[in-house]
Amino acid sequence: MEQIVNELPQHIAIIMDGNGRWAQQRGLTRGDGHRAGVRAARQIVMACRERHIPFLTLYAFSRENWGRPRAEVSLLFSLLTQFLGDEVENMVANGIRLQVFGEVGTLPAPVRSALESALRRTAKGGEMTVNLAMNYSGREEILRAVRRIAASGINPGDITEETFRAHLYSAGQPDPDLVIRTSGERRLSNYLPFQTAYSELYFCETHWPDFTPAELDRALAWYAGRERRFGLTSDQLSEK
Ligand code: IPE
Ligand code: IPE
Ligand code: MG
Repeated sequence: MEQIVNELPQHIAIIMDGNGRWAQQRGLTRGDGHRAGVRAARQIVMACRERHIPFLTLYAFSRENWGRPRAEVSLLFSLLTQFLGDEVENMVANGIRLQVFGEVGTLPAPVRSALESALRRTAKGGEMTVNLAMNYSGREEILRAVRRIAASGINPGDITEETFRAHLYSAGQPDPDLVIRTSGERRLSNYLPFQTAYSELYFCETHWPDFTPAELDRALAWYAGRERRFGLTSDQLSEK
């Protein structure tokens, strides 16, 4: 059978997991783990930019993460605010447009204003889109789309997949071709349930702070060797 070789993924979605375990193994605090995680995120954004990946989505904070200890939640928010401030110039210089997937309205004011300013300043970036999933819940994203569609007064029979997609945070973007989750768990944790219906799922043991561009290349090489069938048979695909 002919080996199907995929092009580079157009959209990579990453679940940056394992900051806590990384820190624990080193006798450090969870906060130290999150700080190291931010450094890894910065490197991976640039590595994807260099590899001409047009869309990257990073899971930074889930709606469920509000249940963590208050001090950890505040630290995550302050690291994020700092990250946005530090990175915005670099994003602009590299043609990166920032988008947010998630509910911005209920975030603390400093996070909200850092996000809004970064969105505004990077709005013209035409080389790459980086989506930050922030206060994100996939089920909530679907419910939000349903509410908006219902409020639009559209005739139920006229609701198509396109209508639905247009009401997701990811409107106008391709679905993730590749989902990467670090640190060993094999679950999606409420991440992009609609958009990942046909994504290839890559799981690795590496904790997020240790996920380097070389690890990214391993994931890309794995992806390149997958046969994406979308319901068809291998024979049908090789005829194409
Ligand atoms: C991922 O690392 C970062 C966030 C969820 C914000 P974790 O903090 O979940 O690390 P583990 O899973 O406890 O090791
Ligand atoms: C998913 O990781 C959320 C982020 C990476 C931001 P979690 O660590 O919160 O997921 P669970 O709790 O292990 O499913
Ligand atoms: Mg975790």
